[in-house]
Amino acid sequence: MTLVEEAGAAARAVPQLPKRLEPLAIAAVRNAAMAAFVWAGRGDGKAADGAATEAMREALGHAHVLGNVVIGEGEKDNAPMLYNGEKVGEGDDVSFDIAVDPVEGTDLCAAGQAGALTTIAFAGAGNMWSPGPALYMDKLVVEAAARDAIDLRDEPERVLKRVSAALGKRPRDMVVVVLDKPRHVELITRLRACGARVQTPTAGDVAGALLAALPGTGVDLLMGCGGTPEGAMAACAVKCVGGGMQTRLAPQREPEAEAIAAAGLSTTEILEVEDLVKGDAMFAATAITGGTLGLNAPRRSGGWNLTHSLIVRPGSVRRIVESRPVTDQE
Ligand code: FBP
Repeated sequence: MTLVEEAGAAARAVPQLPKRLEPLAIAAVRNAAMAAFVWAGRGDGKAADGAATEAMREALGHAHVLGNVVIGEGEKDNAPMLYNGEKVGEGDDVSFDIAVDPVEGTDLCAAGQAGALTTIAFAGAGNMWSPGPALYMDKLVVEAAARDAIDLRDEPERVLKRVSAALGKRPRDMVVVVLDKPRHVELITRLRACGARVQTPTAGDVAGALLAALPGTGVDLLMGCGGTPEGAMAACAVKCVGGGMQTRLAPQREPEAEAIAAAGLSTTEILEVEDLVKGDAMFAATAITGGTLGLNAPRRSGGWNLTHSLIVRPGSVRRIVESRPVTDQE
C-alpha cells in the first residue's frame, strides 16, 4: 500500500463496535420492559418511562467498556438518568455510542395497547448521528431489494410505484405504515388512492421501520414524519439488515425550525443510513405490551418472568424468549 492509499484507508476506518455487548443490550431492554410492564394500562406513561429508564440504566452500568449516551432521555437538567452525554460502564475512553428509548410508544404503554417496546441501539464510538435540536424528520424505509427505489424528494405515488416494481408487486398489493397523525392525512389519502393498504398505528415508527426493512413481515414501506431519536435508533437496525432508509429534518413548529436554523442544520439534505450510523451497529427491543414484530408481552407465572426480545446484528435477526426467576426488585 502506498502512503497515499494508507492515508485514505485510515481516513475511511471508523471505530468498530466492541465485542461482547449483546448480553448487555438484551439485559437493558429486558429489564426495562419488566419495569415498564408493571405500569402498562395504568394510565401513567411517565411512571412507566421512569421505571424503564432506571432499570435500563442499572443494566448498562455493567458494561465492561465505556459507552456514551448520544440519544438519551434529553438534556441533563430535564433528564436525571440516561441523559444525552451520560457515560455508562467502565473505562477511561468511550468505546461505544448508544441511543436509548426505554419506552417507545409511551401512550400505548399507558393505555395498555399493543405496540409499546423498550429499545436500544449501539454503534462504535463517535459513529452515531446526533439530532441536536431537531425533533422531527421525514422517513422512508424499505427492505434491501427496494433500496434504490426510494427518494424522499419524489412524490409518494412515484415512490410507491418504484418500490412495488422493485419488490415485484402491484401498487395495490403494497402495505405501507404511516403514523396516524393529522400531518399525514393527505399522504394516507394519496397512498390509498393508488390502491395501497395503509396501516395507521397511533404511535411507534421504530417498529414500523423494522417491519418495512425486514423481508416477509407483510409490511413493504414506512412513510411519513416521526421523531429524530426514533429515526437514528431505527437506522441502526435497518443498517444491520441492509435495508434502505432516507430521512430529512422536518421541523413541526416554529421554535424547532429556529433552533435547527441556529444550529446550522439543513432541512433539505437527505440523510441515508450511512449518514445516521457509521460502521457496525446493533439494535435490541423487548415487548412491553406485545402485538408487534412477533413479540409478546411479558408474562409472570410461578415465580418466573417470561419476556420476548429481538436482537438485530449485522446480517442476523433473532427473537429471544427468556424465562428468569422474579427478583426481589421485581
Ligand atoms: P414516544 O414513546 O416517545 O411517545 O414516541 C412514540 C412515537 O410514536 C414515535 O414512534 C414517533 O417517532 C414519534 O412518537 C412521533 O411523534 P409525535 O407523536 O409527536 O407525532
